[in-house]
Amino acid sequence: MKAVILKEHGGVENFEIAQVPIPEIKQDEVLIKTKAISINPADALVRENKSVAWIFGDQRPLILGWDVSGEIVAVGSEVQQYKIGDEVFGVLHHPGIGRTYAEYVAAPAADIALKPRNISHQEAAAATLAVLTVLQPMRKVGIKKGDRVLVTAAGGGVGHFAVQLAKYYGAYVIALASTAKKDFVMSLGADEFIDYQHQAFYRELHDIDLVIHAVRTEGHLLRSLEVIKKGGTLISLWSHITAEEQQRATEKGIHAFYNAIVPSGDDMKEVAGLLEKGILKPYVSKVYTLEDIAAAHLDIEKGHTQGKIIINI
Ligand SMILES: NC(=O)c1ccc[n+]([C@@H]2O[C@H](COP(=O)([O-])OP(=O)(O)OC[C@H]3O[C@@H](n4cnc5c(N)ncnc54)[C@H](OP(=O)(O)O)[C@@H]3O)[C@@H](O)[C@H]2O)c1
Repeated sequence: MKAVILKEHGGVENFEIAQVPIPEIKQDEVLIKTKAISINPADALVRENKSVAWIFGDQRPLILGWDVSGEIVAVGSEVQQYKIGDEVFGVLHHPGIGRTYAEYVAAPAADIALKPRNISHQEAAAATLAVLTVLQPMRKVGIKKGDRVLVTAAGGGVGHFAVQLAKYYGAYVIALASTAKKDFVMSLGADEFIDYQHQAFYRELHDIDLVIHAVRTEGHLLRSLEVIKKGGTLISLWSHITAEEQQRATEKGIHAFYNAIVPSGDDMKEVAGLLEKGILKPYVSKVYTLEDIAAAHLDIEKGHTQGKIIINI
């Protein structure tokens, strides 16, 4: 099969299109013929950074990728719930080796769900890691009707789902993004928009119940803490909470924590239900091919993605 392999950690020049064997599946896995995959900022971080090479151990060749939508072409002996021909989507093995940058991928049956019929494989691939990243911690903190929620990086892959999910839970949503993304984030259902290029959100907002913090800018998390009311919550998606940030959160009586997505077929089933009902609408801004993977990585590295970047297979 065709796959994108990473020869060594580093720049995009280390990607190579190669012919590799179709993966063998274990008893609890299915073999998916990939139709579309999505990429995330973490794909570029893992590609570049030798310090995360532990993820791959001594497994070679390195094949990146966690998000997939496709069709089942083989089923492990212990798998009851899926059959050949089923269209499925999910997040595989995060933060380990997902290996979705390929024409076929072995997927644990426990990590996937049936793809809703009303959306394309591209849209389904978009609605995987980026959705679970916010669905899981929002549920954990018990987001509820009437909560005032600030979604940072609201126009990106995670943020555009965070806005839609927070609205679904009945929150009042304030979206933080650049001028160019105003119409987009408002079309997702945001109640208010703050333009981070021209407004200082930390001076304008107060009494926020929940901040979805997904911005890398130095010092941003401390500023996010300033807008949260006592008893409120900050979910950090970008980085672990530093000692200084934790101290400030404690002083203000805020629950601040880092949350990492975990693959879950049950959660994917919930996502499938929301997609089927049109409650969640994935936005695909760019579509590349496997051959264009280097360009796709250079694109997501810029940090200004709108919705999701998809690789069509
Ligand atoms: N913890 C986890 O499990 C997990 C999982 C997935 C992602 N993440 C993290 O979550 C973050 C977002 O991921 P993503 O997939 O949504 O990334 P993305 O699709 O690349 O989107 C990033 C967004 O950030 C916006 N942005 C940049 N600077 C900003 C600022 N100062 N204020 C507000 N928005 C700003 C950009 O829009 P503009 O054009 O408006 O600047 C862009 O839309 C990343 O840091 C990623 O590493 C964590």
